Amino acid sequence: MASTHKECTMIVPFYDSTREYRARKADFDAAVGNVMARGDFILGNEVSEFEKEAAAWLGTKHAIGVGSGSEALVLGADILGFRDGAEVLTPTFTFFASTSCIARLGGKPVFVDMNEETLNMDIADAERRVTKTTKGIMPVHLFLQPTPMAEVISLAKSHRLQVIEDAAEGWGMECKIDSTWRKAGTMSDIGIFSFFPTKTLGAYGDAGLMVTNDDRLAGLIRSYRVHGSSVKYCHDYVGYNSRLDTIQAAILRVKLRTTDESIEARSRHGKHYSDRLSKIPGLRLPGVQGSNRPVYYVYNILVPHRDELAQHLKEQGIGWSIYYPVPLHLQKCFSYLGHREGDFPVAERISKEILALPMYPELRDDEVDYVCDKIAVFYEKRP
Ligand SMILES: Cc1ncc(COP(=O)(O)O)c(C=O)c1O
Repeated sequence: MASTHKECTMIVPFYDSTREYRARKADFDAAVGNVMARGDFILGNEVSEFEKEAAAWLGTKHAIGVGSGSEALVLGADILGFRDGAEVLTPTFTFFASTSCIARLGGKPVFVDMNEETLNMDIADAERRVTKTTKGIMPVHLFLQPTPMAEVISLAKSHRLQVIEDAAEGWGMECKIDSTWRKAGTMSDIGIFSFFPTKTLGAYGDAGLMVTNDDRLAGLIRSYRVHGSSVKYCHDYVGYNSRLDTIQAAILRVKLRTTDESIEARSRHGKHYSDRLSKIPGLRLPGVQGSNRPVYYVYNILVPHRDELAQHLKEQGIGWSIYYPVPLHLQKCFSYLGHREGDFPVAERISKEILALPMYPELRDDEVDYVCDKIAVFYEKRP
């Protein structure tokens, strides 16, 4: 976000992919150049190599590259039968695609309120909303940490629900299941990731991944991403065209080599923000639930006077974002579900208080200090 203010001493963009590109230009240029030289643009060698490397890093049997996180959700929802009136539990506080994939196929999104400490789905609320026609549940691992998956798995077992994990934001987040650390996205029937450029592992365009430990589901995903076909021009299903682009796979392979270091850098910035901002009364900072290993995909604060603070930061040259300003139950396109204001009070309140600060590995310490200084100045002026 560009500043409109001429007097700010620093510009801190909300996100800036060019810093990383400049730092590793030779690697990225070579990776893209190799694809151009080989010419295998569609499901080329880089895609299958990336799939193997991603599966190993995540600890999952199958990893299948697709066009985007949104497309991964549509394929997953279709394959798991989230359609024709089937009810699927999904948080109201999430990105649109977590829910549109259910509605698109005629399934019924059943919204669930959020836990205000973790900012993820409130599992007790999900349980209250289970009915005889509930077919599935979609935990979404937002911002910092996974949804409590032990609870999701137990709920799913007792009601025979299919589970699709929306781990679009969850790259590298971990939690413990039966005393084993498991990565977000790998604990259910199907998990999906987005490699949208801002993500913890981001491509230089649209890209996504689907993961599963189930051979049958893996076969279906591979078929669905190429028009429901496993033999050219023979179609077993009415599938999609959703393939991970070979050039994006080549870029992702370069970034995967240093993904642990990138996560570590995010964690350093997260701690730096928290140390500084904890001294400002009235702010609520990200909290990590007991057995979760977090990844700072987003550094969110919950604040009074959010919109005025955002305006002040903009004037000081600081980028920010609001994830998410309107919960999904209040979106016009879902008005047919009959919800109104007040139905999901936690999500409604958080959507008015939440503010995301700049967070990427290449952020500098003096930039974090600058952001914190400007936030402190804003609240000093407000009794
Ligand atoms: C929670 C969530 N689900 C789904 C998506 C969709 O991913 P994509 O942008 O790759 O389509 C995103 C990404 O923006 C997301 O944050």
